[in-house]
Amino acid sequence: MSEGTGLMIQADRLWNDLMTLGKIGKGKDGGVTRTSFDSEDIKARKFLLQLLKDADLDPYMDEAGNIFGQIHGKNPNLPAILIGSHIDTVHSGGRFDGAMGVLMGVEVLRSIKEKGIQPERTVKVVSFTDEEGARFDYAFVGSTALSGAISSDQLQKDLATALDQEGFSYLEAMKRASMEGGYFSRINPEELGKACVRKAEIKAYIEVHIEQGKVLESRDLAVGVVSGISGGHWAEVTITGEAGHAGTIGMLERKDALTAVGECLLAIEKIARDSGGSVATVGKVAVKPGSGNVIPGRVDFTLDVRDISDERRELTVKKINEALREISADRGVDCEIRPFQFIASVMSSPLVVEAIKEAFIELDYPICELPSGAAHDAMVMGGITEIGMIFVRSRGGISHHPDEWSSFEDVALGCEVLYHTTMKLL
Ligand code: GLV
Ligand code: MN
Ligand code: MN
Repeated sequence: MSEGTGLMIQADRLWNDLMTLGKIGKGKDGGVTRTSFDSEDIKARKFLLQLLKDADLDPYMDEAGNIFGQIHGKNPNLPAILIGSHIDTVHSGGRFDGAMGVLMGVEVLRSIKEKGIQPERTVKVVSFTDEEGARFDYAFVGSTALSGAISSDQLQKDLATALDQEGFSYLEAMKRASMEGGYFSRINPEELGKACVRKAEIKAYIEVHIEQGKVLESRDLAVGVVSGISGGHWAEVTITGEAGHAGTIGMLERKDALTAVGECLLAIEKIARDSGGSVATVGKVAVKPGSGNVIPGRVDFTLDVRDISDERRELTVKKINEALREISADRGVDCEIRPFQFIASVMSSPLVVEAIKEAFIELDYPICELPSGAAHDAMVMGGITEIGMIFVRSRGGISHHPDEWSSFEDVALGCEVLYHTTMKLL
C-alpha cells in the first residue's frame, strides 16, 4: 500500500502526470488540442515514452504509432492483459478524455513493478493512435490497426485519402512522424498489418475513461462499470447547388446549397428525436465558395449517428439518407452521401465486468452499471478480445471542452479500481 493513503497506487504521482500532460497543447481558452501527429501530439508522445522509460516499462511503438509499456510475465506464452486509451484530443478539448485512461495504465504498471510483483502473464499499457479523428475526420486508427477490424490494405487506402484542412494526407503525416527517429522510426503506414495482433495474444482489454455524461454525478458516485458502448455510423455529405451573385439572382431562381442544408439539419434532428434512442450530430459544415456576397454553391458536412441498438441506428441512418435525398430533389440540388466508418455496438464482457465488480466489492464501493454513449477504443478492441470499461465521474457531464474535469479523489479511486481489476485478471 502507498504510505498514508491506503491505496495500492500513488494518486499524487498520477495526478501530477495528468496535469503535466494537460499542459501539452493547451491553448489560450484553456482547451487542449493534440490532433493526430501534429506537433503537440508528437510532444505528448515523447512525454509518454519518457514516463514509460523512467518507470522501466520497456516502451515501444508499433507500425500504427500505438505506444506501449509493459511488464513481461513469467510465462510469455499466456495471453496478455492490455490497459489503454488515447492521448490525442478534439480541438480545444479537455485534459481527461483519453489521457486519464492511459496514465492510469502507466500508474498501475508502475505500482505492480514497485511492489516487486512479476505476474504470470504479460501486462501492457497502450496509448492508441488517434481515437478522436479530429484532424483527418478518421478515428480509431490505432485500435483498428491493432485489432485488424478492417484489413491493413483497406486501412492504408483510407489513410491515403483522409486529408486534413491543409490537404495533407494521414499517410504523409505518419511518414513525417516516423522521421522523428528513435521509437518513432517504426511507424510505417505501408506495414500496418504488422501492428495487428492475434486474438490468442490478448486475454482482455480494460479502459478507464471519464464518463462524459451525468449519470454518476446524479447518483453521487465517483466510479461505475460500463455495461456496453453505443456503436456509430459516420458519413460525409456533399450538397451541390449553383453559386451565383447575391444581388442579381432572384430568390425563386436560386439553387442555394446552404439553405438546402438548413432544411436537412432540421430533418436530421427530427428523425433522431423521433427514433426512440439514436443521437445524430452534424459537427462540421464547410460552405463554398464561402463569400458573403455569393450564393453558396456547395456545402460539405459530417454526419455522426450513434445508438446502442445497431438495428435502430441503421434505421435512423436510412431515414436520414432518404430525407436528405428528398429535400435535395425538391430543391433541385445534388446530394452525395459517403459513409466512411461504421462500428457496431459492443457489450462489455462478463469476464471483465465481473473482475471490475469484484474490485468494487473489495474496495467496499457501491456498484453502478451504466452504458457509454461516447465511442471508445474498447469498442474496436471488442472485435478481438474480452473488453470492459470503468467510468470516472465528470463534473457537470462536460467533455470535449476546456472545462472537462474529474476530481483528484475520483481519479484516485478510478485508478485503484483499475489496479484491483488488473490483479484479478492477471
Ligand atoms: C469520441 O470521443 C467519440 O465518442 O466520438
Ligand atoms: Mn473523446
Ligand atoms: Mn476518449
